[in-house]
Amino acid sequence: MPVRKKKPAAAKSRPGWTEKSVLQLARKSIQALKPYVPGKSIEEVKAKYKPASVTKLGSNENPLGASDKVIAAVRDALPRMSLYPDGSSRDLRQALAERHGLHPDQIMVGNGSDEVLMLIAAAFLNPGEKVLISENTFSEYEFAGRVMDGAIVKIPLKRQRYDLAAFTRKLKLKPKLVFLCNPNNPTGAYFSHQELETLLRAAPAKTLVVVDEAYCEYADAPDFPRSLELLKRFPNLVISRTFSKIFGMAGLRLGYAFAHPLLIKETGRVKTPFNVNLLVQAGALAALSDTGFRSRSIANNRQGRSHLQKELAKRKLEFVPTQANFICFKVPRPAVDVCEEMLALGLIARALRSFGMDDWIRITIGTPKQNGLFLAALDAVLDL
Ligand SMILES: Cc1ncc(COP(=O)(O)O)c(C=O)c1O
Repeated sequence: MPVRKKKPAAAKSRPGWTEKSVLQLARKSIQALKPYVPGKSIEEVKAKYKPASVTKLGSNENPLGASDKVIAAVRDALPRMSLYPDGSSRDLRQALAERHGLHPDQIMVGNGSDEVLMLIAAAFLNPGEKVLISENTFSEYEFAGRVMDGAIVKIPLKRQRYDLAAFTRKLKLKPKLVFLCNPNNPTGAYFSHQELETLLRAAPAKTLVVVDEAYCEYADAPDFPRSLELLKRFPNLVISRTFSKIFGMAGLRLGYAFAHPLLIKETGRVKTPFNVNLLVQAGALAALSDTGFRSRSIANNRQGRSHLQKELAKRKLEFVPTQANFICFKVPRPAVDVCEEMLALGLIARALRSFGMDDWIRITIGTPKQNGLFLAALDAVLDL
């Protein structure tokens, strides 16, 4: 006999317990925050449009999937899941240190670089202190700054690039934090070693400059910053990176940062005891030793980047030359509509309205097959 599921009882309401009154219980600085809107999931698209297949190129994940070695390491670690993980991620920090020629004390890890960025803000930002960020960039810098009651100061892009000269001028405001994204999400444009060094020279000693290099492994411009060199000379520099992109581990969640040991030590005060779980620690160690997967990911991206840039140019669609694993391009009608029509064809791309770029779309560089499906969907909806 089929079991009839009982409807869950609605929570009892209290007099005066409304959405508005509960919002007023929240800290003032977060009342105006809008929750992060992620790219569409495969499940959402299947449920809404029922396309024959779904190609997800909306969230800058690794199109090669995950490394077999990482999958095997995570599987091997599964029986140990009843134990707490090593809260200091000792082996992982040691392996990262060896790989980058640093000391483990210069490395912190977190549940994605999202958490790393938040921990930096939580450890260092006092209410009212200024946070310098760019417009049209990754949302988590503003988010972390606002959650910690910081005062956000925004600098517009200049010809689709971060304007580091304007950032440098604004240092006179003595911001506590400067967040820079290189290459920038969502444009894919980068700033150079020279530009970063000039900014660091001008930065007051008590301003922390956080450079988010989530996509740096894909960058091959000869003047892309050698940020680890700068770390030796500028103790107020923090470099944040992730296993979500090049290592294909977005679902496992691991971000890390390099900084002066004293900065790393202070972030330890605000971290929860076991923020990096046992499976991800095992997977990440395997990922670091899988140089083949990393090289294949870079090679696939290079080939796809040059192909897609050529194809967009052929279609006379403006795009920003990219150093990342995605391309940002302009469409002749509202990007939200174009993306919705591509969804109906089973292709997930990202309309950049939430980044303040209404006419622009960001597409992850996929495998050759995925890139072909994207171009076909684009041609169909734009009637090209
Ligand atoms: C620039 C940038 N930084 C950080 C992140 C977050 O990465 P993670 O998955 O490590 O939290 C993303 C995710 O897309 C990103 O684009």
